[in-house]
Amino acid sequence: MKKTTIIGATALVMLGAFSIQSCKNEKNDDPTPQQASEFVADNSTFSAFENWSIGAVKNGVDPANLGPAHAGNDSSSQRTIYWGNSAASRSDNGQYPVGTIIAKKTTWSANGGGSMITAMAKRGNNFDASGNNWEYFILNSDGSVLVDNGDTKRGANLNNGGCKGCHGKVANNDYVFTR
Ligand code: HEC
Repeated sequence: MKKTTIIGATALVMLGAFSIQSCKNEKNDDPTPQQASEFVADNSTFSAFENWSIGAVKNGVDPANLGPAHAGNDSSSQRTIYWGNSAASRSDNGQYPVGTIIAKKTTWSANGGGSMITAMAKRGNNFDASGNNWEYFILNSDGSVLVDNGDTKRGANLNNGGCKGCHGKVANNDYVFTR
């Protein structure tokens, strides 16, 4: 209950800041577009993800959709979803705005323990129109993009389309399960 209130308050403050910004733009004294047409994440984009707003915390085995996809599918698992722009909301087309960034950290203590960090960024600009222009990522613990054997773990079809394929179960929710 308390957490919800804090997130709600943050969202209000951010919405307030946004309206001030739009007024400024209406007067045409600031040529900066309010929303870039393409957002390309880099190694600094997710660096502070653990300080972002917590959107959801899930414990244990996911009985419905998840299986081992995000690793840690046992009773010791904890999955935390972080929103980099907590006020992001769907617009008229039902999609989150370009630049929306979401990270998810799974931790577990069974079998020696471990963690896995994944992320999504709304890239826009017809980057992958059939997947609502999301880019998927696997991250290192410092939030930089994982490079495995020379393969940078990012893209619309990361893991042979596995991320997009499963998130496509909620395509009508803009590929986001938890909000
Ligand atoms: C088999 C299904 C499945 C696959 C494959 C999958 N995910 Fe997910 N993902 C989920 C589910 C279900 C959630 C909801 C949160 C939870 O229950 O932990 C989720 C949550 C997320 C979130 C938080 C936003 C949201 O949708 O709530 C991100 C970010 C994410 N996944 C990224 C990825 C990336 C990157 C990959 C590929 C490396 C991937 N996912 C592969 C099922 C999947």
